Amino acid sequence: MSKDFLVMASGKYINCAVDSPVTNVSSSSSDSNGSNSSNSSVGKQPYRLYRFLTDLENILDQVKSDELRLKRIFPLVRRLLTESDWLQGEFREPDPDLGWSVLTLYEEPDFPLTVQTVVWLPGRHSPIHNHGTWGVVAVINGAERNRFWHRSPEPKHPDRIELVDERVLVPGEIIGFTPEAIHSVEVIGETPTVTFNLYGETDFQQRFEFDPVTHQATGF
Ligand SMILES: [Fe+2]
Repeated sequence: MSKDFLVMASGKYINCAVDSPVTNVSSSSSDSNGSNSSNSSVGKQPYRLYRFLTDLENILDQVKSDELRLKRIFPLVRRLLTESDWLQGEFREPDPDLGWSVLTLYEEPDFPLTVQTVVWLPGRHSPIHNHGTWGVVAVINGAERNRFWHRSPEPKHPDRIELVDERVLVPGEIIGFTPEAIHSVEVIGETPTVTFNLYGETDFQQRFEFDPVTHQATGF
């Protein structure tokens, strides 16, 4: 069964396995543009990165709700990772001082998608942050603990947050974030984590790093 999780601004996450069977990918491709060239490409051909990006663009054109977009994107990501073996080994060795690395897989002016693989070394963790856009992270190797937070403002501290839940993600699991969803990530165990990360167009005015002690939110 697919293990796709969607994190909301509330800090709660839902399992989207039922909504995103892999078999939906073909239909999402075919009904998205009505093109028989797209249909014919699905068959036994590998699900190449450019096909993934085409399907992705069709979904973004047709679906404006971030939550619904993510539910449609999950099976595409799952299929890409299942059928594109090369992607599994496509990452950059992390800088030992920095503790992480990013390899951009696709970049094009005026098509503001971020497609990358990210590696984190054991013992490292991210700040608490949201992304200011929708995002999908698929675990390829290692395990990471995701902690989910939500905004819990007080008169004195409008950017106060509270921990809501957490989940350890392992290879084969995919997690999606709505733009306001707040999370932090920590590498679990002795193995670096390798993830496939996909993000939409970032609204930098709405992307923050949160400090749970000082209750401050700063641009991220
Ligand atoms: Fe993140």
